[in-house]
Amino acid sequence: MTDRELADLAYSMLERSYVPYSKFPVGAALLCADGSVFTGCNVENAAYGSTICAERTALVKAVSEGHRDDFVKLAVVGNSSEPCWPCGACRQMLYEFAPGLELLVGRGDRTFVSLKLSELLPHGFGPKSLV
Ligand code: THU
Repeated sequence: MTDRELADLAYSMLERSYVPYSKFPVGAALLCADGSVFTGCNVENAAYGSTICAERTALVKAVSEGHRDDFVKLAVVGNSSEPCWPCGACRQMLYEFAPGLELLVGRGDRTFVSLKLSELLPHGFGPKSLV
């Protein structure tokens, strides 16, 4: 799967976003080593703090289907002029399973930035920090 294809899967999720409060849709697509892809969108809630981000939706879908240590690349995209950078909580959740994860972070014009999670969360706290 090309980066363009993975990003486009994330963009296709924008229409699934449930965003009556922020009106800020976010889409995500998480690629696994076997080629499978888990998509996600943000799902908001009237109790705002209960909102789930698009990246965490994709991650939790993947883990609950048996994936854990085979995450290769995540695309996260929004409609904004700036890249839709993953929030701190998502960076932390992704770090737990894939500290070396590659990211594609997309803008509303469908261009995206390629970088690593380790650039967004250097010196992260993960499972190895507990030993
Ligand atoms: N959002 C995400 O889905 N992912 C992020 O990493 C940043 C924020 C969502 C949460 C909320 O529904 C909306 O964007 C505005 O914060």
